Amino acid sequence: KENIYILGIESSCDDTSAAVLCNDTILSNVVASQKIHEDYGGVVPELASRAHQSNIVPVVNQAIKKAGITKSQLHAVAFTRGPGLMGSLLVGTSFAKSLAYGLDIPLIDVNHMQGHILAHFISEDDYLKPPFPFLAMTISGGHTQIVKVNRYFDMEVIGETIDDAVGEAYDKSGKILGLGYPAGPQIDKLAQKGNPKAFKFTKPKVDGLNFSFSGLKTAILYFVQRETKGNPDFVKDNLADICASIQYTIVGILMNKLKLAVKQTGIIHIAIGGGVSANSGIRAALKNAEQKFGWTTYIPKFEYTTDNAAMIAIVGYLKYLEKDFSDFNVMATARLKI
Ligand code: KG4
Ligand code: ZN
Repeated sequence: KENIYILGIESSCDDTSAAVLCNDTILSNVVASQKIHEDYGGVVPELASRAHQSNIVPVVNQAIKKAGITKSQLHAVAFTRGPGLMGSLLVGTSFAKSLAYGLDIPLIDVNHMQGHILAHFISEDDYLKPPFPFLAMTISGGHTQIVKVNRYFDMEVIGETIDDAVGEAYDKSGKILGLGYPAGPQIDKLAQKGNPKAFKFTKPKVDGLNFSFSGLKTAILYFVQRETKGNPDFVKDNLADICASIQYTIVGILMNKLKLAVKQTGIIHIAIGGGVSANSGIRAALKNAEQKFGWTTYIPKFEYTTDNAAMIAIVGYLKYLEKDFSDFNVMATARLKI
């Protein structure tokens, strides 16, 4: 059997990444994270595009070198078409087109959200791969969705956020508490030393499988403003407890929606993806649900949770097998649907 080499390119937000796959095995997965945004407390689109522009060639070169192959051995170039920031997507899209055109090999466009979900099919141990149909919850700084996955390319969004993404809720809450960007990992770490029931935040009331997180952020803001009036050091004195309480609330929201999704679909295989799936609270809650409800849960390796090109390359490989190639006039699409 011939080995198929796919180059994946991801540039939808603030990480420039390139990966090389041999069939479904990762040979390299290089990620250049843009530190510049930390100074601004969030991703600045204009700065992100510029950083992609300067990072893309070195990152691709490094991925090919690490993989121990040459460009001429590549079978196809897969890239993120969307969703994401337009200026960022354009850099990866234009580069991928030029490279595939120059090498005279197929171009494959990939939906970033399908990447987060299909990252579970990167060859590790087979027991790590969810069986069809399964429910995928994608939780990151830009997305919060529950997707019913019938087959690789037969997916249906059955719930999503109507305002902020869950990672945004973490980051904005952290900003209120004076934590640096991104605050998610810091809240997670502090939460582990605090009392999750110290403070109570009301959960949003959203029908069905949709999510809402903007109200929680406002509730936290008012809570902190109120408490610091009485004690200017309130946040400092109670940081771990505040973080634990925020985490408890957010994990509760996610788990409640998952339980409802299981009830509605009868599917008990649950996979998660996206940056927030690194969260210790959601991981523990899922493990607990295996015992309690008999679910089987699938959590990707850390390096495949945050934005990366390996997940784009695996989708590229699966599409390559189906000869599902792109036209060279394909356009980056900021609001691409699954
Ligand atoms: O998938 P990702 O790298 O980029 C997007 O596509 O958005 O996700 C980044 C998000 C940020 O909001 C970050 O705060 C959050 O994931 N995050 C976490 C944790 N690690 C990353 N949130 C909570 N707990 C964590 N351990
Ligand atoms: Zn993402």
